Amino acid sequence: MKIISSLSEFLIWRESIETSTSIGFVPTMGALHDGHVALIKRSLNEADITVVSIFVNPKQFGENEDLNSYPRTIEKDSDLLGSVDVDVLFVPKYEDIYCDSIRSFSFEDLFSSQLEGKSRPDFFPGVVNVVSRLFNIVRPSLSFFGKKDAQQLIIISKMVDVGGFPIKIVPVETVREPSGLAMSSRNIYLSKTQKMSASKIYKSLLLAKKLLRCGEKESKIIKNQIKKNLLSDSTISVDYISIVCLNELKEVSGSVCSPALISIAVYIGGVRLIDNVFYE
Ligand code: PAJ
Repeated sequence: MKIISSLSEFLIWRESIETSTSIGFVPTMGALHDGHVALIKRSLNEADITVVSIFVNPKQFGENEDLNSYPRTIEKDSDLLGSVDVDVLFVPKYEDIYCDSIRSFSFEDLFSSQLEGKSRPDFFPGVVNVVSRLFNIVRPSLSFFGKKDAQQLIIISKMVDVGGFPIKIVPVETVREPSGLAMSSRNIYLSKTQKMSASKIYKSLLLAKKLLRCGEKESKIIKNQIKKNLLSDSTISVDYISIVCLNELKEVSGSVCSPALISIAVYIGGVRLIDNVFYE
């Protein structure tokens, strides 16, 4: 595996790649786990060359968020990526990404200000900024994003359409712990008992899906059931519970249509966790 840690070196490497070679790209912030590995394996299967980036992007963190304590495990990450035969690990510095010679694309629509956007107003402008810059540097044919961050996946797919990036965005299923807890770099902040509490998130999402399948379509009733289920654990506090109609990308106020996205964000011991399921 080639490890590239400067923009100039990356651009020289990129120029050496023939135009007929497909590049699969997996952008990450490191602290890699099996969820990231699922994306990387898809890329290894579907593209000629796989590039993984690790960059903890300060612009997508709010003032009181965990930028400074965000887990950084570069040596372990690098060993893992080498062991699965990734071709290139790109570890840019802040100046490499945010330099004037790299074009960024700014894109915001109503959906960016809902869910995560409501609770974290800096998040999507920051994600779109960094991902558009990474796309302009890496120039991949395919890029892989997890359904775990469904809103991010939808917004990046829209960005690619609106901005005319010649890139296919490939969604990848959420990888979970045996308890159902979605894998996340932030799970390392949780104690064993907090992890058990956190497994309530996915269970509540499954309960919502079950209610829908049994004919309960009223979003308010479903959200109340989710809330009741989550709050039966006193360590959980709810940030939001959302049901969005995917055709309109709008919060459902009455009857839930399909396809829909059911999402939850909670805090457990100060750690913010998100998860979602699609209802088709
Ligand atoms: P990060 O949280 O490191 O996630 C990188 C990619 O891994 C994202 O596409 C995310 O959806 C996916 N992922 C994380 N946990 C997953 C899981 N349990 N199952 C499947 N996929 C999972 O998302 C980011 O970084 C950043 O916002 C980034 C896109 C890199 C921009 O800075």
